[in-house]
Amino acid sequence: MAMRKPIIAGNWKMYLNVDQSIDLIEEMLDDLDEIQGVDKVVCPSYVSLAPVAEYLEGSSVKLGAQNAHWEEAGAYTGGVSVLMLEDLCQYVILGHSERRQYFNETDELVNRKVRLAIAHNIKPIVCIGENLEQNEAGRTEEVVSTQLRGSLAGLDPGQVPGLVIAYEPVWAIGTGRAATGEGANAVIAMVRRLVGDMYGAEAADAVRIQYGGSVKSSNIAEVLSQPEIDGALVGGASLKADEFVSIVQQAAEIRGSKE
Ligand code: 13P
Repeated sequence: MAMRKPIIAGNWKMYLNVDQSIDLIEEMLDDLDEIQGVDKVVCPSYVSLAPVAEYLEGSSVKLGAQNAHWEEAGAYTGGVSVLMLEDLCQYVILGHSERRQYFNETDELVNRKVRLAIAHNIKPIVCIGENLEQNEAGRTEEVVSTQLRGSLAGLDPGQVPGLVIAYEPVWAIGTGRAATGEGANAVIAMVRRLVGDMYGAEAADAVRIQYGGSVKSSNIAEVLSQPEIDGALVGGASLKADEFVSIVQQAAEIRGSKE
């Protein structure tokens, strides 16, 4: 079995201006930098990417964007292209449920973004997850499978190990009601099997799959004690330096890979 390096990413969403973003990274950078065996990523808003990138230079903390456009360039007012991100970011969150819900992003659109990001050497963090109604109707597997097949269509199997997938059940996001470790593990095991069906056992074994939804320092241990879960995509708790550092620290203790 592949030794998958855990990855903890903080999604700052539409919070913090430039000064506040710098303050937050300043508060936690020394601590984060010291923690080994875990990939650490922060994802500020677009306007804070360049200043935070400058601040992170020479550290082990990586930078991610929260979205990208599906075209490289064009008359798309307000759009931000992977060409503008590739020199700044190592990661980009794509297909987040908030993008799907409020900006009408479809699997097809997410797929175009995923392919473009890979082509420009930015690692996509591809988000999938069912909403409460779908969950209660017992449709989790169907919904998540459709999203995964659509979002990851047409890749080269060799590209898949570089991807990160985030399983974020919509009912767990920002609600304080995280999925149980076992529940998330079961869905993530299913997602991994599906990656295997699409791209083969080697790709499935190597791809990292995170859980996201109300992750905090008090439940990260439960999440990461599950064998299929390779990390977390953290929203609210990533805006608090001590919380985020504690999450990353625990990830290193529980699952840290030897480097
Ligand atoms: P919360 O951790 O605030 O529930 O958000 C999860 C999320 O959407 C991360 O992308």
